[in-house]
Amino acid sequence: MKFEFVTAAADADVLAVLVRDGREFSAAAAAADSAAGGSLKKAAGAGRFTGASGSTLVVAAPAGVEAGSVLLVGAGKDALDDIALENAAAAAYHAVKMSGASTLTLDFSDLTPEQSARAAFAVKLAAYRFDKYRTTQKPEKIPSITTVRVVTSDLRASEAAHDQLAAVADAVEFARDLVSEPANVLYPAEFARRVKALEHLGLKVEILGEAEMEKLGMHTLLGVGQGSRRESQLAVIQWNGGAEGEQPVAFVGKGVCFDTGGISIKPAEGMEDMKWDMGGAAAVAGLMHALAGRKAKVNAVGVLGLVENMPDGNAQRPGDVVVSMSGQTVEVINTDAEGRLVLADALWYTQDRFKPKFMIDLATLTGAMIVALGLDYAGIFSNSDDVSNAILDASGKVGENFWRMPIPQIYDKHIDSKIADMKNMGNGRAGGSITAALFLQRFTNGVPWAHLDIAPTAWANNSPRPTVPEGAVGFGVRTLDRMVADAYEAK
Ligand code: BES
Ligand code: ZN
Ligand code: ZN
Repeated sequence: MKFEFVTAAADADVLAVLVRDGREFSAAAAAADSAAGGSLKKAAGAGRFTGASGSTLVVAAPAGVEAGSVLLVGAGKDALDDIALENAAAAAYHAVKMSGASTLTLDFSDLTPEQSARAAFAVKLAAYRFDKYRTTQKPEKIPSITTVRVVTSDLRASEAAHDQLAAVADAVEFARDLVSEPANVLYPAEFARRVKALEHLGLKVEILGEAEMEKLGMHTLLGVGQGSRRESQLAVIQWNGGAEGEQPVAFVGKGVCFDTGGISIKPAEGMEDMKWDMGGAAAVAGLMHALAGRKAKVNAVGVLGLVENMPDGNAQRPGDVVVSMSGQTVEVINTDAEGRLVLADALWYTQDRFKPKFMIDLATLTGAMIVALGLDYAGIFSNSDDVSNAILDASGKVGENFWRMPIPQIYDKHIDSKIADMKNMGNGRAGGSITAALFLQRFTNGVPWAHLDIAPTAWANNSPRPTVPEGAVGFGVRTLDRMVADAYEAK
């Protein structure tokens, strides 16, 4: 897709203009309507189009208008904030992407240069597809829009703003690609290779294999991967865009490239979804991509625990006891509660080596999180109001939903083991997401920390957001990028 900024709409196949709720035409919409002799307003009336947010109406070939067709885009009744603007631009794209038209011009009236850039950014996110494994496709199923033009009052300012936003969109796409890949293609070493390739952006990437992790004593992580033919990996990504010697911010991702459950094997139905059990690691990789892409003035580290959870003759058994890098011992009651075992060593390693300002881990950790919050909210568990408020604040600005959950100390005893320091699940299913978070907390060594359980949101089945197509979301990249930008970057 090509994105261009223009100072006037010309040569448009489709000209998209905004209409506010109550059929209130924006300046560009009114101008098009008067050129068309009032036929746009007439069409809106006849087509029950009121300008409600998310609604669109295509008016084909109106006489008097140069464009092939005019697309009325509902802007709703509330102020056009960033999210409403993104949704309008993305909805415009979806309304005509298969129409046969090749250029879409957004003339949204009175946008700031930054808003014009954001409209292009929204279309880029909305147009994401993962088609690499299709060998045939009916022509009418292939989007026809190849160029998007956005009208702006200031070309240079829009282009500059777009460079920054496009870096974030590229990063979201990188994360979505990782999440979309099947597990026969994207196993730990391949994931690590793709992350290593990010060095061209200026990131520093180290990959640790099993021998190195063995030396560090990372046996909770290694135990998860020991039933797999694929070698476990730890990817350590550094971005040094801040002052030299300044404490970094740290992000840790669960990268279970496939989760069969191990010996505590999962039922067959729906197991294919567990290719996206690396969505946390993908989000961290995407975040580091975004920080480097827009040259963020911050020091940041991303640590990815990459494993495959398989049952075989060498697999970990229920009841096994493993020693974590922290020295604490864990009785593995259920080999399907593997994410917390991976994160236990990854979190400990991160705080031990980097002494970060805070650590945020992202993980598709528990099915219980989906039961608690439904499919459009991720959970935050945190020992720090500052860190969780910064996340919540940023998430609101980018339209990713989070809800803060409790981590009450009274439940902590539920993960005490009779024979080791702890066990890897609570008693039964009650509070399953909370006991998982309490388990992780035991490996944070008191560092300010937040755990984001993104099991509900990593994959979209029925996304309510037009910037998020069906499938891999790249959830978390935008929130954490914005959080770093707003709260932790040098200005
Ligand atoms: N990867 C799963 C959690 C999950 C389930 C993510 C569904 C996305 C969709 C995780 O490793 C898991 O299996 N957790 C168990 C924990 C239980 C055994 C304590 C769960 O949620 O059932
Ligand atoms: Zn599992
Ligand atoms: Zn898992």
